[in-house]
Amino acid sequence: MSDSGFDLSGKVAVVTGASRGIGEAIAVRLAKAGADLVIASRKTEGLDETAATIEALGRKALIVPTNTSNKDQVYALINKSIETFGGIDILVNNAATNPHYGPLLESEDSHWEKTIQVNLQGYFWAIKASVPSMQKRGGGKIINVASIAGLHSLAWQGLYGITKAGVIHMTMTLGNELGASNIQVNAIAPGFIKTKMSSVLWQNEGLANKMIAQTPAGRIGDTEDIAGVALFLASSASNYITGQTLVADGGITNVYTS
Ligand SMILES: NC(=O)c1ccc[n+]([C@@H]2O[C@H](COP(=O)([O-])OP(=O)(O)OC[C@H]3O[C@@H](n4cnc5c(N)ncnc54)[C@H](OP(=O)(O)O)[C@@H]3O)[C@@H](O)[C@H]2O)c1
Repeated sequence: MSDSGFDLSGKVAVVTGASRGIGEAIAVRLAKAGADLVIASRKTEGLDETAATIEALGRKALIVPTNTSNKDQVYALINKSIETFGGIDILVNNAATNPHYGPLLESEDSHWEKTIQVNLQGYFWAIKASVPSMQKRGGGKIINVASIAGLHSLAWQGLYGITKAGVIHMTMTLGNELGASNIQVNAIAPGFIKTKMSSVLWQNEGLANKMIAQTPAGRIGDTEDIAGVALFLASSASNYITGQTLVADGGITNVYTS
């Protein structure tokens, strides 16, 4: 096979939040490119289906139920991945939460704790646990799923947006600090993608139509729109890109800024 720059044969990838939505699409896309997968989320239902799809592609899939708000569970996920496959080449931090949808001043301490633990600390713990294995293998790829809410002030998504802005900054900092280890750290900032997490938006017909009308692409995004970006960032085609956030939003943030 000619090397397109997107071949992941022989690579081991860990994807959190892989039981549905964007994480599932990323895991399957990486498997299609030849990677073996470790897939995590809190519940195993959903992960079983993702694993079956990966195995049907002829790749290996290890399921590790994990709550990424728990440091011990995140380290256990990474250690189990290394023990099973001998190391990690690609980490996709994707599992996130948005428990408070409303004005920022109405958010409670419990919302802050949960959102910071899952969206920020969970990402950081997974990176910290994975980097020594990547360094041993001579390099690696870290992909943090952020959001356009981390780049712009979106109505009623303030707390979530604060953590996503933190993810973008974590990505820049670690891109700098891990450059010498040949580990590229990048983020994806999806726009409006049709998943369970965004159902509060797309199930509201008026709001969905307004967002579609504002989006130059003229549609809500699909999880496959993000999976392709993740494949690029997981592959050697992106070896000279680090610390960056790629926006995949059908153009809507250009409208915000124009
Ligand atoms: N959809 C959008 O419009 C959109 C836009 C911008 C950014 N994003 C980002 O894209 C990523 C994926 O979101 P999505 O839309 O695909 O959401 P989703 O369909 O709700 O899927 C979320 C996934 O994360 C897992 N998860 C949630 N909390 C977890 C925890 N504490 N520990 C481990 N796993 C957990 C869920 O499984 P369990 O419930 O079983 O744990 C599920 O697999 C997130 O980082 C999100 O912020 C989404």
